[in-house]
Amino acid sequence: MAHESSAAVQSLEQLDRASLLHPFTRADDFAAGRVPGQRIVQSASGIRVTDAHGRSVIDGMSGMYCVNVGYGRQQIVDAISQQAAELPYYHIFAGASHPKAIVLADKLLELTGGRMKRAFFGLSGSDANETQIKLVWFYYNVIGKPQKKKIIARQRGYHGATTMTASLTGLPNYHSGFDLPFALVKHTLAPDAFWAPETDPQAFSQRCADELERLILQEGPETVGAFIAEPVVGSGGILPPPAGYWAAIQAVLRKYEVLLIADEVITAFGRVGHMLAIDGYGIEPDLLTLAKGLSSGYAPVSASLVGPKVWQALQDGAKTHGFFAHGYTYSAHPLGAAAALANIRIIEEEGLCANSAEVGAYLQQQLRQRLAGNPLVGDVRGAGLLQAVEFVAEGPPQRRLEPSLKFSAQVASLAMEEGLLARPLPVNDIVGISPPLMLTRSDADQIAEMLHRAISRATERLSAAQRQGGV
Ligand SMILES: Cc1ncc(COP(=O)(O)O)c(C=O)c1O
Repeated sequence: MAHESSAAVQSLEQLDRASLLHPFTRADDFAAGRVPGQRIVQSASGIRVTDAHGRSVIDGMSGMYCVNVGYGRQQIVDAISQQAAELPYYHIFAGASHPKAIVLADKLLELTGGRMKRAFFGLSGSDANETQIKLVWFYYNVIGKPQKKKIIARQRGYHGATTMTASLTGLPNYHSGFDLPFALVKHTLAPDAFWAPETDPQAFSQRCADELERLILQEGPETVGAFIAEPVVGSGGILPPPAGYWAAIQAVLRKYEVLLIADEVITAFGRVGHMLAIDGYGIEPDLLTLAKGLSSGYAPVSASLVGPKVWQALQDGAKTHGFFAHGYTYSAHPLGAAAALANIRIIEEEGLCANSAEVGAYLQQQLRQRLAGNPLVGDVRGAGLLQAVEFVAEGPPQRRLEPSLKFSAQVASLAMEEGLLARPLPVNDIVGISPPLMLTRSDADQIAEMLHRAISRATERLSAAQRQGGV
């Protein structure tokens, strides 16, 4: 792969600053060239990405938690290109369809063991969750409970960036400046066992469920329609559920007839060691959202899977409302569907779910061993190949690092110097690692070593600054 000359890269960087509005990037700093992480990624293969200067690093984030099968998969490239040659586009409105959409829908329903009855396709996790909320509202209108429209999400949950899904997202940055969240959205406790006062995870899980029940009662159960949650919290801190969490939460939802939307945009397709995380945590959703690993990011595609209750309401509702008035020009886009089918075949044939569980546990163990003596490492946690390290101030007692130190951002930037792309998460001081799922133990060793070195260097820098009285 040819790389650009330094002058060409510089001019691309300049053009980037002058033309693109980048998501989740400070507009002022970026435009002025003050964002240190500006990187133009040009090519990728396996678990590595290469920038325009020709520097290759391990992609410890699988793009944005999505390239589950890794880069450069010729089978997916071929599937997309054959599809583009045969039928680059056709819609599925009003009775029209095309083979890949049909086969993919059938495949996804099969993966749920028949628990879901229909698949609706979109292009992103955000639009798929947006669809779920419309389905919930439609459902309650049809069954004669039109006041049951509030949606409960969780603090630190991430569900997207459209107006409704940003409202669901439980991170303040997503709301301020946009007049969000919508009044119909309420947030309950994050399942963050690390900062919980309870030492018994079951007791903490019960408190989360009690808190959910308190919120439902406060709002009025007749007004609460659905609860949306990720089986394992992703961007909001990589929080596997504490023991007993999902059983306790679902008992409350059933008691007040609140629908459950499982947002599996990150967790499905092997990321946490299962094809569907609901199977790992005993979750029985009414609606299930898929995106990211569905096509491993090779083409945009998402799915909103519809369980029996809502499917029944969609059929009954046709009598009053006529056709199901929802969908996008690019719903079930043939290229996305072809990519998804080829991608799922790879995940199944190569046993990537089992590999994620196995190598993920190994990576966690390696990180724990290497980081054991560091007083700033508070927690190493995760599931499958979705792992995190959380940093704390030197204690006891357990307390947060001063946010202005931007410690996790420093770690990520030093990890980059070591050759590893890791992600500082938007809450607390947490660095996330979620590499492609065909990771080997030797890759995991490399990642653990690079992260260890980055964390040690960041720790030394902080100690040096503290000795000099700088912080
Ligand atoms: C759990 C979850 N839901 C929804 C989304 C939104 O997906 P997208 O960015 O494709 O709109 C994300 C994105 O990170 C996510 O992690």
